[in-house]
Amino acid sequence: MMQRRLEPELMTGVDQVQAYAAADFNSGDQATVRGVQRLIARTSALPPDPLVVDLGCGPGNITLRLAELFPQARIVGIDGAEAMLSLARQRAQLQELEISFLCQTLQDVLHGSLARQADLIISNSLLHHLHQPDLLWMVTQHLAAPGCRAFHRDLRRPASVAELQDLLIKHLPSAPEVLQHDFAASLAAAFEPQEVIAELRKVGLNGLTVVEEDDRYLVVSGLVES
Ligand SMILES: C[S@@+](CC[C@H](N)C(=O)[O-])C[C@H]1O[C@@H](n2cnc3c(N)ncnc32)[C@H](O)[C@@H]1O
Repeated sequence: MMQRRLEPELMTGVDQVQAYAAADFNSGDQATVRGVQRLIARTSALPPDPLVVDLGCGPGNITLRLAELFPQARIVGIDGAEAMLSLARQRAQLQELEISFLCQTLQDVLHGSLARQADLIISNSLLHHLHQPDLLWMVTQHLAAPGCRAFHRDLRRPASVAELQDLLIKHLPSAPEVLQHDFAASLAAAFEPQEVIAELRKVGLNGLTVVEEDDRYLVVSGLVES
């Protein structure tokens, strides 16, 4: 078994933010949006005027898609990195989408004013950044209004260094070294499904299930019962 190797939580470096915003995450982003649509279809329609929260929204890749998908919703994107949010705000303005972007860490959100208000909570590629293993689950619980659904998608940690190397060769065979390095670091920082299941049980989020997707993702989704 490979031990978890932590990455910094926030992505604040200007170069890092620009490289992230320029990268093509289209297929992963589409998979997240399709997963959200499936979740809504297998539970029930969102209430009128729902609050949809995108945690660790970065430059808004998913937030903008959510605003298009749910035009009747109030959409809030939250990230602790102002450099990411400033790009997200520019993109939303360009597309004439009304989205509120809040510069808060997840730790702040736990003490913020959105408690028990969210009808749908989403994160994409956030979990592996977090040092405290139950933070995302505590925030999910804190934000959820009755009937809230959650959809969190992220990488999962490979079982061994050899498996990690295989993933690198398979998915980024000719990428620049810096991208290969970042991908390897994110895989090593990610959680294993069993670790997530243990955290969900600990905080009592029994309506969320953990599913392995493809060869490198995990999806945590379902009803946030409190
Ligand atoms: C890999 S990016 C993903 C961005 C976006 N969700 C996407 O799918 O493109 C992770 C984002 O999470 C943010 N983040 C990491 N830890 C955080 C924390 N503790 N509180 C708030 N934001 C955090 C980072 O600043 C970064 O913008």
